Amino acid sequence: MTTWRLTRRHLLQGAAGAMVVPYFFSAAPKVLAAEFTLPELPWAPDALQPLMSKETIDFHYGKHHAAYVTNLNKLLPGTPYENMSLEEIVQKAPPGPIFNNAAQVWNHTFFWNCLSPKGGGEPKGKLADAIEEHFGSFADFQQQFTDTAVKLFGSGWAWLARDKDGKLSIEATSNAGTPLQAGKTPLLTCDVWEHAYYIDYRNARPKFVEAFWKLVNWDYAASL
Ligand SMILES: [Fe+2]
Repeated sequence: MTTWRLTRRHLLQGAAGAMVVPYFFSAAPKVLAAEFTLPELPWAPDALQPLMSKETIDFHYGKHHAAYVTNLNKLLPGTPYENMSLEEIVQKAPPGPIFNNAAQVWNHTFFWNCLSPKGGGEPKGKLADAIEEHFGSFADFQQQFTDTAVKLFGSGWAWLARDKDGKLSIEATSNAGTPLQAGKTPLLTCDVWEHAYYIDYRNARPKFVEAFWKLVNWDYAASL
């Protein structure tokens, strides 16, 4: 399990360094609330320039991703999902605000890890072999993934995913959708919501996807 998935912050009453609670509210330490926090980016906000500007990251991560975390924390208290992990919420919540915000938190954190200032090129090793086996060649895979990302109507995500039998697939999901819902393991994603590219590329999604390929973190995908 990657460390960024551990995004719950537990506030303990009476625990050193935790939230200060007036003594008359509590006699014994107990979990007050569990909140998700915005995971740190795996690189500096300006590290992907000029392909992805700091301004884009400031909005995409600092505003959009952060808002999904805030919204999720507001929605969870008193629901059956309040003590679940992010992955459990994504897999168990029905369509609606809790699913949408939880999945958008997960998807964005995953997306940042799929990018690297040292990215680009082609995968190596077992992942390269699997891509060749399933798609014929890396070039064919890249073309098919690009088509999926560019042609996806409206907001959503393009994915490379692996099912429990090891079969790879390229998938398009709308809005907050994710292969996790089908029990698959995401290996790579490209966020094609307009907020991902409008500052740098305006409406030119194909140019953004071109940039994505120059930033793609194959080492991360291969680690999954
Ligand atoms: Fe996004």
